[in-house]
Amino acid sequence: MRELKRIERCKLIDLPQIADPRGNLTFIEGGRHVPFEIKRVYYLYDIPGGAERGGHAHKELQQLIIAMSGSFDVVLDDGYATERLHLNRSYYGLYVGTMVWREIDNFSSGSVCMVLASTLYDEADYYRDYDAFLRAAKGKA
Ligand code: TYD
Repeated sequence: MRELKRIERCKLIDLPQIADPRGNLTFIEGGRHVPFEIKRVYYLYDIPGGAERGGHAHKELQQLIIAMSGSFDVVLDDGYATERLHLNRSYYGLYVGTMVWREIDNFSSGSVCMVLASTLYDEADYYRDYDAFLRAAKGKA
């Protein structure tokens, strides 16, 4: 069987929803709804119009990206293919695996981007230079 490309391992995860006239509820359990134990949570907010975030890849880190409020686009790039996804529901999580370059843009006003992460923050885990990422992703590093 053909091995999946890294970008094909990224996927939208349909999170559980408990519908209620008082307001809906969604929950996420590490190792169950996301394929990793959750070590860290961070969120982007007060995002000015036209801002772009991301612009890096990770060696080991896996993440789940959720539009908690409003919407934004995530552009994924594994060095071979790119894909732009629009996130606009708080019950969808975008799973992003290792060695995938991501950029986040097109934030709507007041949007909040929450990220569940598989590791603690470690700057050594980042590729912040796109050419260095490409060399590593294509196995030339
Ligand atoms: P960065 O990961 O580049 O943000 P984004 O991908 O959203 O554009 O991080 C921005 C800054 O915040 C950088 O100086 C590192 C710091 N930071 C932490 O200290 N801890 C964290 O968990 C994260 C995600 C970032």
